[in-house]
Amino acid sequence: MNRRVDSSSLNQSRRLAAVQAPVIPIVGRWTAETPGTISLGQGIVSYQPPPETAVAVREFGGALADHRYGPVEGLATLVAAIERKLADENGIPVRPGSRVVVTAGGNQAFMNAVLAITDPGDEIILPTPYYFNHEMAVVIAGAVAVGVPTSADYQLDIQRLADAITDRTRAIVTVSPNNPTGAVYPEAALRELNALCRSRGIFHIHDEAYEYFTYGGVPHFSPGSIAGAAGHTLSLYSLSKAYGMASWRVGYMVIPDGLHDAINKIQDTILICPPAVSQQAAIAALAVGRPYAAAHVAPLDDVRRAIFAELSREDVPCDVPSPDGAFYYLVRVHASLDPMTLTERLIKEHKVATIPGSAFADPSRCSIRISYGALGADSVMEGLRRLVTGLKALV
Ligand SMILES: Cc1ncc(COP(=O)(O)O)c(C=O)c1O
Repeated sequence: MNRRVDSSSLNQSRRLAAVQAPVIPIVGRWTAETPGTISLGQGIVSYQPPPETAVAVREFGGALADHRYGPVEGLATLVAAIERKLADENGIPVRPGSRVVVTAGGNQAFMNAVLAITDPGDEIILPTPYYFNHEMAVVIAGAVAVGVPTSADYQLDIQRLADAITDRTRAIVTVSPNNPTGAVYPEAALRELNALCRSRGIFHIHDEAYEYFTYGGVPHFSPGSIAGAAGHTLSLYSLSKAYGMASWRVGYMVIPDGLHDAINKIQDTILICPPAVSQQAAIAALAVGRPYAAAHVAPLDDVRRAIFAELSREDVPCDVPSPDGAFYYLVRVHASLDPMTLTERLIKEHKVATIPGSAFADPSRCSIRISYGALGADSVMEGLRRLVTGLKALV
């Protein structure tokens, strides 16, 4: 019997339909349609990976490389290099309480984490504004993202976070230095939050993708280094920003030993193993180490200060807390326009692209994220000039 298939019923799942559409491609389309636009949108760095990575990749391709599947958790040499880096720089002793797993970037590390710890309907607490892919991952996993506002200067409100914990809560997520706000959480706040998670029997997922991007001597702190944190703390890292390696897709996570079996199942199914060639590049990048990023972070600080000085002028209709990290400002615009419309008009009428704060669930009425990491200082300042002109005209 021929069964007639009604293709109109071949829809995505209700779960995926509930996931917000990524905003970067929409802004990217408007930008492409408006030639000459300066993009202060995408959160990438302007610099290339260390040249040593190119040598490693050439050698890998040229040698009688091993083209079979590799270890699920990543190549032993890379895992060992990461463990050394974690001990030296982050104060995180990996074994025996925890494990390193190499992933295809920090985003996959977060997805692994959420899939490993949630059942459908479980809750994950995300301080708002949040990194939109974190919220998307939670919804994709069938869990519930519970947003908890940060303070006016984008710092954690520990009491509000504590009040948001329910019987279904599985984790609180922190990102420091933060995307989209640039806020760096002080050690004391991260210690308090980590202790809260421990005492309430939930996980603390901490994303350190921007660990090298702090300014003015503000220290970066890794809660995974706290004594007794190993059993409930997941620390996530990325080579995308630190080494200008976004397209290579390498990140890693430190996970409690108790989650190893779960993460192993997820990783084995989704990735089987991290791509060998990218891991070779990562080994070379880690051998160059932190000084590589440090050389690029110093000039970024000058750009950061110049932007703040410009946006703080009295006649610019916005206010902006001065954050200490990453390469973002989340600017509150004194406007009744919705942020998506403001973003579109800034691109189409003033040729400057930003990201609307609504994509990050920023509770303020109209905000935009400025990213100053992706372009040279001159281009950023020209983009800023257009932005200021645009804000004055549109608001
Ligand atoms: C906070 C945060 N985590 C993770 C990522 C993704 O990093 P990766 O390229 O390693 O997946 C980003 C990228 O913008 C980010 O801002």
